Amino acid sequence: MTLGAMLQGRRILLVVSGSVAAFKALALARLLRADGATVRAVPTAAGLRFVTKESLAALTGEPVMDDLWAAESEIGHIRLARWAELVLVAPASANRLAAMAAGLADDLAGCVLLATRAPVLAAPAMNPAMWGHPATVANVALLRARGVRFIGPVEGAMAEPESGPGRLVEPDAMLPAIRAAFAAGPLEGRHVLVTSGPTHEPIDPVRFIANRSSGRQGHGIAAACAALGARVTLVSGPVAIPDPPGVLVRRVETAREMLLACEAALPADAAICAAAVADWRVAREAGQKMKKEPGMGAPTLEMALNPDILATLSAHALRPRLVVGFAAETERVVAHAQAKLARKGCDWVVANDVSGDVMGGAENAVQIVTAGGVEDWPRMPKEEVAARLARRVAEALS
Ligand code: C5P
Repeated sequence: MTLGAMLQGRRILLVVSGSVAAFKALALARLLRADGATVRAVPTAAGLRFVTKESLAALTGEPVMDDLWAAESEIGHIRLARWAELVLVAPASANRLAAMAAGLADDLAGCVLLATRAPVLAAPAMNPAMWGHPATVANVALLRARGVRFIGPVEGAMAEPESGPGRLVEPDAMLPAIRAAFAAGPLEGRHVLVTSGPTHEPIDPVRFIANRSSGRQGHGIAAACAALGARVTLVSGPVAIPDPPGVLVRRVETAREMLLACEAALPADAAICAAAVADWRVAREAGQKMKKEPGMGAPTLEMALNPDILATLSAHALRPRLVVGFAAETERVVAHAQAKLARKGCDWVVANDVSGDVMGGAENAVQIVTAGGVEDWPRMPKEEVAARLARRVAEALS
């Protein structure tokens, strides 16, 4: 590992939690400083069972803060959280990951982790059984979904005579991931507009027409574009999933509101329309709740066409350079996607077969349909589809 000054001037907050591997945080701090970074250590109480405050202070060359209440009078957890350009949790114990997943703020490290807007990298270290426990697995999945990135753990010799993943990645092997966290992404300086989720089209004040879209795919795309450095505006219909980190979210209900929010977000370099927009709305929304009167039978709802947001953006005076649509079909997927490409005037259509469990599910198998041809992607988690698509968007805009 060549040490230059790739981290020159970078401010890294190193959270050291309780693990036998905590002594490696000392070597890590030394490496980060040699690469140009300023490192401040925040050990947890358990971390201080394995390394001393004095050794952390010596190797970081900075005062060490470990007491929430002392820190309140000195620098304060908010200032510390703002100071950090990157929070590195190394080692991250099972307990610390659980605390992070739950958002616990009962010590200085917990407060800083909640208050920071900086990216968070975690390098876990624990017994393989603890790493494999469903509780830890669920905590890690939750943290990943919130944008926490993980370095390791790896397999190798442990303190106990056991094998399996759980060993802390060696400090010099962590360095590339830490440097990458600061590298400008390929979508840096770009504005990407993403639509996501269903729309709700009111029938009367208490009833609406909707669909099964969860917003997972669109939200994943927004998160993936942001992770590549883009400024992202996410226009979302009503969903039950959290906002992606680092993304401007505009919440709407109806297709017409979604169109207005999209137009207000222009100009953009790319628009990715992943929302499941209702094609029709009820022509005249009832002002009062429609009553079930005896002997009246069922009402007939007259429908009206909704605006097509994808087609409108594709023909807009401020048309984004790249416009991507989705085609959720239950039959003849590619043929429909090709027709959609022509009809809507967009550049790519991401086609998927929604006859199975795709809508609302965790995985997706898509085909990328462009004027140049059709590309088949294997079935993979929606987050992975999102990451690949974001990389393709970055290539197309470069
Ligand atoms: O026509 P269809 O609904 O199959 O087209 C799907 C694509 O068009 C998706 O990208 C969807 O987000 C977009 N769309 C839209 N506005 C509509 C209907 C669909 O932007 N009213």
